[in-house]
Amino acid sequence: MNYSTLLRASAAVLPPHFSQSPSENYAITGRNLSFCITTKQGERFSILRNCSIWIPSGQLWMLLGPNGCGKSTLLKVLAGLLNPTDGSVYVKKPKSFVFQNPDHQVVMPTVEADVAFGLGKYDLSREEVKYRVTKALDAVGMPEYLHRPVQTLSGGQKQRVAIAGALAEACKVLLLDELTTFLDENDQLGVIRAVKNSLASTGDVTALWVTHRLEELEHADGAVYMEDGKVVMEGDPSTIFKFIKDQQASYMDQINC
Ligand SMILES: Nc1ncnc2c1ncn2[C@@H]1O[C@H](COP(=O)(O)OP(=O)(O)O)[C@@H](O)[C@H]1O
Ligand SMILES: [Mg+2]
Repeated sequence: MNYSTLLRASAAVLPPHFSQSPSENYAITGRNLSFCITTKQGERFSILRNCSIWIPSGQLWMLLGPNGCGKSTLLKVLAGLLNPTDGSVYVKKPKSFVFQNPDHQVVMPTVEADVAFGLGKYDLSREEVKYRVTKALDAVGMPEYLHRPVQTLSGGQKQRVAIAGALAEACKVLLLDELTTFLDENDQLGVIRAVKNSLASTGDVTALWVTHRLEELEHADGAVYMEDGKVVMEGDPSTIFKFIKDQQASYMDQINC
C-alpha cells in the first residue's frame, strides 16, 4: 500500500492534528498495530494492542510512557525490525534505528570510518563520501572529530556519530530509543541538540525520540504518550507534560493514603 492510499484508508481514525491541517505530510504512520508473542508456557501475550501513531514530517516528536508499556516494541515495529501481528505501517525511507547503549553504535576505529561505514553499499566517489561525512558531522556538531579514535568519545558523542552515519546515508527518519538513559546532563543536551540541528539543517528528516525524562519534552515539537500497549494521548508537549505530572501526583496521593 502506498502512502496516499494509506492516508485515505485511515480517514476514519485520523488524529486531531491531521484534521487541523489535512495537507500535512506524515513521515510515520502506524495504524491499529498489534504485536503478540507466545511465552515459553505457550500463552499468547499482547505487547501492542490496536496501537496507532502519526508523526508529521520534519519534526522531533517524543514518545513517553511507563516502563514496559511497549515503547521499544513500537519503535522496532516502525523500524521494520519486528513484524506487526496486525495493522499497517508506513515510514519514509531510508530510516535508521539508534539503540540505547552507546557502545553498541560504533563499529569502526575512527569517527570518519564509522560515519562512512554505511556508505560502502553505494557506488560513491571518494569525494562524495568525504562530502557526506563532513556534512553529517557538521549537523551533529562534531566537525573537528573526523580523525578521532571512537574509543576516546563519550557515550553521547558515540550516539551523535551513529546519528551522523544515518544522515550520511540521507536517512529520512530517525528512530531513537532512550539515547540519554546512560548519559550525564552535558552529554544528554549534546545529543538532543544534535538531533534538533540535524532536522533544522536537512529540513526533511523526522525524529521519533523515546524517553523517560520529562524535562526533554521542552525540546519536542510534539509528544505521544503510551500506556498498556497503545497510544492514549498525543499532541502538544506541554499538554503531555501536564498529563504525566498529574498522573504522577495522583499515584503519589494513592500510595500516601
Ligand atoms: N521478546 C520478548 N519476549 C517476552 N516479553 C517481551 C519481549 N519483548 C518485550 N517484552 C515485554 O513486553 C513489554 C513491553 O516491552 P518494551 O516494548 O520493551 O517496553 P518499554 O520500552 O515501554 O519499556 C514488557 O512487559 C516486556 O517485558
Ligand atoms: Mg524500552
